[in-house]
Amino acid sequence: MEATGYPQLDALLPRLAAIPTLDAQALHVERIAVLGRKQGALTFALRALPTFAAEERKRFGAEANRVKESFEAAFAAREYELAAQTAGAVRPAIDLSMPARGRWIGAIHPVTRVVDEIVGIFRELGFAVAVGPEAETEWLNFGALNFPPDHPALDMHDTLYLTEAGQSDEGRVLLRTHTSPVQIRVMQAGPPPYRVVIPGMVYRNDPWDASHAPAFAQIEGLAVDEGIGLVDLKATLTHFARRFFEPATKVRFRPSYFPFTEPSGELDVECQICHGSGCPACKQTGWMELLGCGMVHPKVLQNCGVDAERYTGWAFGLGPGRTAQQRYGVPDIRLLYGGDMRFLRRIAGQDPA
Ligand code: PHE
Repeated sequence: MEATGYPQLDALLPRLAAIPTLDAQALHVERIAVLGRKQGALTFALRALPTFAAEERKRFGAEANRVKESFEAAFAAREYELAAQTAGAVRPAIDLSMPARGRWIGAIHPVTRVVDEIVGIFRELGFAVAVGPEAETEWLNFGALNFPPDHPALDMHDTLYLTEAGQSDEGRVLLRTHTSPVQIRVMQAGPPPYRVVIPGMVYRNDPWDASHAPAFAQIEGLAVDEGIGLVDLKATLTHFARRFFEPATKVRFRPSYFPFTEPSGELDVECQICHGSGCPACKQTGWMELLGCGMVHPKVLQNCGVDAERYTGWAFGLGPGRTAQQRYGVPDIRLLYGGDMRFLRRIAGQDPA
């Protein structure tokens, strides 16, 4: 601030200039020493007021006011500065009240979880994992598995073909409609015994609706050795169902048909939602279909160069998407294969592990 021309006031100006150097304690003392109503230096200077003539008194009063305002501003500025310094000293230089960025927490997809669990149960029983390509030939997907050439599964409206007819003696290339061609690949790769589970994606020219998906997961199982019978199939698959669901889960085998197994069956488990009393999920039957199975057809063994007189075996095929629906009570298969993160997060949160 410039000099006022009044010595009583100008005497205070060095103190005004010194304010930015004061610490909190000195600032407090100095504020009272200058602006204090009774003892303050400014109050003291104002005592000269009555000694001035009326005109001069006005000017002096105005100058005194300017000095007072300058002190007030300087005290406030220094106070603010000291407060900011203290805040900086005790708190990190980041704004802790700023909302955090969302964290992405990964989780295993429910279908993958079911696949991993099933593979784990069969591993305990001595099964290895085998995999095969998703693009297969007609021979591996159908012919070697004993499908007759006029089987409806071979139709354009069931199977997604990738090439035109006649490219090789194995027929057209197609997207595999089941994981069963990997049975053939395993058996062609070496002599028995075989004990494998085969997880993978399969493709069908199916609608995308509550109970169908054109691309879905399967798990295949194959056990071939000397002396394997239907009792091994039933015992192993019953054990599997009770390991996967509850130890006391009721199961039943129903006769069925697959060209590559004879006899063929389907394994049902007690409905996991109503436990047998009947509900919309099991269409009031009390049962849920878990898998297709059967004794490997001798023709299939022969097609792979396996001696069907010496070796026998069984196989099964299961849709882990269906199984995940049963386990987590998911009414629509599109929720599992549709990739909607809101649904998947909910299922992941619902998982015990
Ligand atoms: N491959 C059959 C299907 O996709 C399932 C199956 C596999 C049945 C193995 C019996 C034995 O429907």
